[in-house]
Amino acid sequence: MIVSLGCDHGGVDLRARLRDRLMERGYRVLSYGPEDETSVDYPDVAVVVCRDVIDGRADLGILVCGTGLGMSIAANKVPGIRAALLSDCYSAEMARTHNNANVITLGGRTLGSELAWQIVTNFLDNEFSGGRHQVRNDKVSAIEASYMKS
Ligand code: RB5
Repeated sequence: MIVSLGCDHGGVDLRARLRDRLMERGYRVLSYGPEDETSVDYPDVAVVVCRDVIDGRADLGILVCGTGLGMSIAANKVPGIRAALLSDCYSAEMARTHNNANVITLGGRTLGSELAWQIVTNFLDNEFSGGRHQVRNDKVSAIEASYMKS
């Protein structure tokens, strides 16, 4: 599995920890964003990761900024992206099994690295349930499509 992983300056440390642990687990990681605290604008990184997912270069995306909020808002502007801002393990499981999220966003300044890793593994180790959740996801996609017609 290939994971596209990006951060802004608020997520550098957490991104580095997640990158190491993902690679230890055998994931291939495409990594974006600064390696130090150089200030960057989170939408610029979010769109690169989201394009990896939409274009099939990555299976899933993980975005880290200070709170995860900006990355979430930006990622969800990309058609086809279902980004989930996560801060607990139960929601991580639900984001995969119910929402079929293809990007998760995390707060580098709000989460400890161990909790963040547990969130990531709860997300990665589950699968979409389909069924009634696919029906609901299709309705979400229909909302997106209805605003792209004009
Ligand atoms: C950057 O200071 C901060 O605004 C950003 O990392 C993120 O938290 C935005 O939502």
